Amino acid sequence: MTERLKLAMQKSGRLTSECLQLLIACGLKYDEPKRKLMVRVENFPLDIIFLRDNDIPEYINNGAGDIGILGNNTYGEWLAINELNDTMIAKELGLSKCRLSIAVPNDFPYESVQSLNDKIIATSYPNILNKYLANNHIKAKIVTLSGSVEIAPGLGMADLICDIVSSGSTLSAHGLREVEKIIDSEAVIVQNIKNLASDKKMILDRLLTRMESVRKSRNCKYIMMHAPKSSLQKIKKILPGMEEPTIMELVTDAMKVVVHAVAQEEIFWTTIEELKQAGATSILVLPIEKAID
Ligand code: PRP
Repeated sequence: MTERLKLAMQKSGRLTSECLQLLIACGLKYDEPKRKLMVRVENFPLDIIFLRDNDIPEYINNGAGDIGILGNNTYGEWLAINELNDTMIAKELGLSKCRLSIAVPNDFPYESVQSLNDKIIATSYPNILNKYLANNHIKAKIVTLSGSVEIAPGLGMADLICDIVSSGSTLSAHGLREVEKIIDSEAVIVQNIKNLASDKKMILDRLLTRMESVRKSRNCKYIMMHAPKSSLQKIKKILPGMEEPTIMELVTDAMKVVVHAVAQEEIFWTTIEELKQAGATSILVLPIEKAID
């Protein structure tokens, strides 16, 4: 029987839809999960198991799942009390970026981390917070909640909180402000490092190559234009992160060339305006579907 890789991911939540979209962009076809807790990818040797995110590290550690997609925050919370383990990060995905921060009520007289002494802090990340407080020699009481942490100060359960912040709108809706960042977080792929047979490693490598291609192509644009030969150096400087362009003769105008290039960074309207000022015409900016080295 051909080996299949088992990927564990969050059943529903912050990461789910972005990560499922990534798998689709990698060319994987599968039935909508709906109520199913395991789906088989039709055109790639991969099965997806849907779990609660904080269970994922343990599934990967004991080999029930080969790889998992989860937030670095959730993985970090598990690692804080499982330092000896059989897992590692195989790839940072650059998705679902957020941070784990300390936030206080707007009228809290916060001066420095020392202001946390003797306070009650509500969080879903007691292990990371505990380490942070110990490293800063702070004595505080931690109240562990599994969600809706921002409501705790308003209900008198805690003086302040330690929670995930992305846009910051949940904090401001609850009269809170961010005062210390503990860690940055994003979606990562975690793999088992002990039980992954070579066949499965090859499947993982194929998947990671596809993910990298998707990541690169998201940031890349293909740009084409006609440009005066005399402006070529100027145009190269204007284009952000441009690799060496392909230059071709323009048969209808000996003073101009056709420039084709891949830009590794976003091309803004201001960039286009600068190109026009440098004499470029017939400018086309196209998305790139796949980018493979
Ligand atoms: C997190 C966190 C906040 C919210 C912050 O919840 O607990 O409630 O996101 O996002 P914002 O800064 O963009 O407002 P999440 O959506 O991950 O779900 P959870 O309640 O299950 O933790």
